[in-house]
Amino acid sequence: MAETKEKILVLDFGGQYNQLIARRVRDHNVYAEIKPYTVDIEEIKNNNYKGIIFTGGPNSVYDETSPHYSKEILDLGIPVLGICYGCQLINFMCGGQVESAEKSEYGKTVIKVSKKNSKLFKNVPDENIVWMSHTDYISKAPADFEVIAFSEDCPCAAMENEKKKIYAVQFHPEVTHSEYGKDILRNFLYEICQCSGDWQMDSFIDTTVENLRKKIGEKKVVLGLSGGVDSSVAAALLSKAVGKQLTCVFVDQGLMRKNEGDFVEETFTKLFDMNFVRVNCGKEFIAKLKGKTDPEEKRKIIGEEFYRVFWDKIREESDGGFFAQGTIYPDCIESGKGDADKIKTHHNQVEMLKDIKFDDVIEPLCDLFKDEVRIVGEKLGIPKELVWRQPFPGPGLGVRIIGEITEEKIAVLQDADAVFRDEIAKSGISQDLSQFFCVLPNVRTVGVMGDHRTYDHLIAIRAVTTDDFMTADFAKIPYDILAKVSNRIVNEVEHVNRVVYDITSKPPGTIEWE
Ligand code: XMP
Repeated sequence: MAETKEKILVLDFGGQYNQLIARRVRDHNVYAEIKPYTVDIEEIKNNNYKGIIFTGGPNSVYDETSPHYSKEILDLGIPVLGICYGCQLINFMCGGQVESAEKSEYGKTVIKVSKKNSKLFKNVPDENIVWMSHTDYISKAPADFEVIAFSEDCPCAAMENEKKKIYAVQFHPEVTHSEYGKDILRNFLYEICQCSGDWQMDSFIDTTVENLRKKIGEKKVVLGLSGGVDSSVAAALLSKAVGKQLTCVFVDQGLMRKNEGDFVEETFTKLFDMNFVRVNCGKEFIAKLKGKTDPEEKRKIIGEEFYRVFWDKIREESDGGFFAQGTIYPDCIESGKGDADKIKTHHNQVEMLKDIKFDDVIEPLCDLFKDEVRIVGEKLGIPKELVWRQPFPGPGLGVRIIGEITEEKIAVLQDADAVFRDEIAKSGISQDLSQFFCVLPNVRTVGVMGDHRTYDHLIAIRAVTTDDFMTADFAKIPYDILAKVSNRIVNEVEHVNRVVYDITSKPPGTIEWE
């Protein structure tokens, strides 16, 4: 959507850090896009890339099944940087030798720069620490390459063919453990690829708004707003572009956090110009969920009911025009892993009903990573609480109430959760937690309050730290903060007489309870 002039291609050979490489390039204000190693060379030629980065990958270059690329790519005159597997691949393509070491080199490693005036190492100390993770290593560099750095176990930690502007590093400059990784990437982009840095969020907003106006013209746009970060930022961008031509449909199934539905409505009706349609259907959802206790069945009912209500409203609000959604870049990229021809399912993308006709689907954030989406959101004036919102599952509190979902249980959980969030905000540790919330396990226990015995709900507190939500640690919240949370919940939330803290990591536990 945005028209940036400079682009770097991240050619994906299946490594785990590929998205991170693209993110790091963008941190230097240069747009980077990821393509699988199966991309056609003609497509590369037609894209005017300023540089190409070969990523890491799990394979050995001598494996018959390992991903390779036509050697022609090194003769296009486009600067290339190979990282880890990408480095070995360049070596292999150019006639060097790769061998398998007896011992893997893994972790922080000191390298020594042997060519002090290499452009790649400008302003990088002669000895510096990098992150290594490899078993294969380059035992002999190709004849037309010069070794520019080495480590104790790795005779070629980096090499270059300066004339052809081909560089290769065995280590991972993209991870923060590499002390000067940022500088090395910057040198590749600015000293070698001669980038000027035209990827800026302000210009992204301006060009995107302009393009949206051109595309939409006088027509209407309908957007499903969930209150999550992505759809909120998409809504704000579209509002800036076409104002009242935009209708946002917000389905409140009564399973959001306390006052969250009202907050979303207030934000988008007061701060942004648009038609805002809120459908309150909490009662219908609870009726559908009556007597249901199986987690999968509950999720299915909530999902199906949500899309039924959503599409009914969209059908009512649409008259041709466009359908918009907040799909972001990681939802769309093709992966170099496994079956590279398959495009990842857009997990944000909702399947459109056939009887609703739109001119086209608009995805204004499809070039952005999550943290870039947040920067755009802040620049557009979306409140911080929304922009920095922690992940919230589609089925909402439905996956945090074990057993049957009732209005009473929702209210108890919302109140307890609000207290927990308030205490965490006051304690100043919010930034240290990736996600935190309360769960209502559908357990009643005996307690005593004053002179009375009570028999009331148990609340569980869940708080985790994680980088990717695939694995997570339970957060080590200080006892005094936990004590305050527990005290307040038991005192302020009716029908709760006990609080427990979930100290399970993922795996074996999941973050949510259902
Ligand atoms: P689990 O519970 O699988 O959760 O460890 C991992 C992350 O995903 C979120 N989550 C969901 N997000 N729809 C979503 O959009 C869902 O159905 C869903 N279930 C779990 C969860 O909150 C955590 O951040």
